[in-house]
Amino acid sequence: MKGIILSGGRGTRLYPVTQVVSKQLLPVYDKPMIYYPLATLMLAGIRDIMVISTPEALPLYRALLGDGADWGISISYGEQPQPEGLAQAFLIAEDFIAGEPSALALGDNIFYGAGFRSVLVDAARTTSGATILAYPVAEPSAFGVVEIDDRGLARSIEEKPARPKSNFAVTGLYFYDSDVVEIARAVTPSVRGEIEITSVNAAYMARGDLRVVRLQRGTAWLDTGTIEDLFAAANFVQTIEARQGYKIACLEEVAWRLGYIDADQALGLAERHPNSYGAYVRTIVEHG
Ligand code: DAU
Repeated sequence: MKGIILSGGRGTRLYPVTQVVSKQLLPVYDKPMIYYPLATLMLAGIRDIMVISTPEALPLYRALLGDGADWGISISYGEQPQPEGLAQAFLIAEDFIAGEPSALALGDNIFYGAGFRSVLVDAARTTSGATILAYPVAEPSAFGVVEIDDRGLARSIEEKPARPKSNFAVTGLYFYDSDVVEIARAVTPSVRGEIEITSVNAAYMARGDLRVVRLQRGTAWLDTGTIEDLFAAANFVQTIEARQGYKIACLEEVAWRLGYIDADQALGLAERHPNSYGAYVRTIVEHG
């Protein structure tokens, strides 16, 4: 399965913070935001990943992430000149996807929790139809909202409905079979002029092929759409890391634990960060 991280957008909700910096490069506590969805895709077992962003920001993503070889993965880049919708990612990435199943991760979504890795690995087995993840939220109308039947299939799906039919938000991590490019191409832009991911999901639902996995209460799903969300996400990461002594979304640790790189490579990467981040990587590799 191929992976796509969509890291564009104008970030206007976070101005002036994002006036000259791509939002997904901002720190969430001790690492850039894009590390979190990158770790998520890696934990799903996906090693061939395209990062899509604006023409202005792409050189910075390249400088930060390179070709992925440091973490034993392959990273390529795609350009989205204008934010014309989440599902446009599949049109930009068509050649990269090359007829395989693919996963789309929004660059501003953070997941964490016990058992989450097995949810990821299961979802990444999607070779027919689509799999989305649903999460109960107090205010669903800020999100895509899905109703789920007792077979775990979507019964209805709506983008930011004024009157939500359930309290299940659709998270920013989606798994599709190889039909997704054709389905995205057939989507009519919404009134706000975007190729909506919810329209792609609705097309799978119409085929009876939109599986919905409910994330457990013990899983954290955070997004960083507003300054308050960004601050809350940083506090969450800081709290967990300080308490447990384990980092969330440390790419060197993930790559080493998954066997994508060996101990010597991980120790070499630790040297590049002469601070507590590098010391953490060294301790993990030396003491497990
Ligand atoms: O976070 C989950 C939600 O993400 C879902 O529940 C919604 O169904 C889905 O539409 C999306 O809602 P948002 O309101 O968060 O979408 P937004 O337009 O803010 O885009 C999400 C991120 O993707 C944001 O960081 C900017 C980036 N983006 C957005 C668009 C429209 C792009 O990189 N390119 C784009 O064309």
